[in-house]
Amino acid sequence: MTKLTPDEIRFFRDEGFLIKRGIMDANLTAQARERLWENAPPEIDRDKPDTWVGPIQEYRQKKGEKGNDGGGYGWWYRSIGSEEWMVRMLVAHPPIWEIVEQMLGEGDVVKPDRVRGIYCRLPEGNAPGRPHGCHIDAHAFHLGVVGYIDDVEPNGGGFSVWPRSHHVFYFSNKARNLRDNSEQYTKNLAYFQCRTPVDCHGRAGDVVFWHHRLAHSVGSNRSRGIRKAVLGDYAKKNIERTMNEPPCEDMWEEWPGIPSNGKP
Ligand SMILES: [Fe+2]
Repeated sequence: MTKLTPDEIRFFRDEGFLIKRGIMDANLTAQARERLWENAPPEIDRDKPDTWVGPIQEYRQKKGEKGNDGGGYGWWYRSIGSEEWMVRMLVAHPPIWEIVEQMLGEGDVVKPDRVRGIYCRLPEGNAPGRPHGCHIDAHAFHLGVVGYIDDVEPNGGGFSVWPRSHHVFYFSNKARNLRDNSEQYTKNLAYFQCRTPVDCHGRAGDVVFWHHRLAHSVGSNRSRGIRKAVLGDYAKKNIERTMNEPPCEDMWEEWPGIPSNGKP
């Protein structure tokens, strides 16, 4: 059993994210690293780390949401995301699934049949620093996970989060699970963009759990390695019915495993 402790639950509630270390299967993360290279962009040579430094030319291997593409400092291997072992490595992996059900309710969550894919962030070499833009995701879900299949050094392109921003963005959208690109959204982003995010660096096997309304982005990759992450999403079974409803008065109402601030 890998249930979260009360302290971990409170941390997730207050900060909007939680990192669990080393909870993925090491054989599967090794397999994912191996398979990733079959999809390498034309300019990148596995045996020549100097070629890993971006930016790279834009390319598109397949059209559509599940297509593989890349360019600049990004390399997205999406078509691998529906393979059974990839699903088993992340979103259906029992220690991860148990935590998800603990937070969102046992029997209440759709078990995903795919992950978004392997998302890479290439080293940025000596490129000048860029402003840290952030966003919340537009699609309907409740909880996201980012798993690392390789080590991610500090400032190595890790998932960057703006702690506590979920308390603001939860209430600033009209629909509970969709994003309205309103003036208020832009204002809120501007507020958080002036603040320093938390760089969720880690080791292969670490997983970041994050609330769907948490502002996030990819951090700059100042390391020499390629940041390799797998992303997945969870939604409650009733999301089709509730996603257009207004936000709940208590933002944890749909999270039976998370006591709201007023509760012990
Ligand atoms: Fe996002």
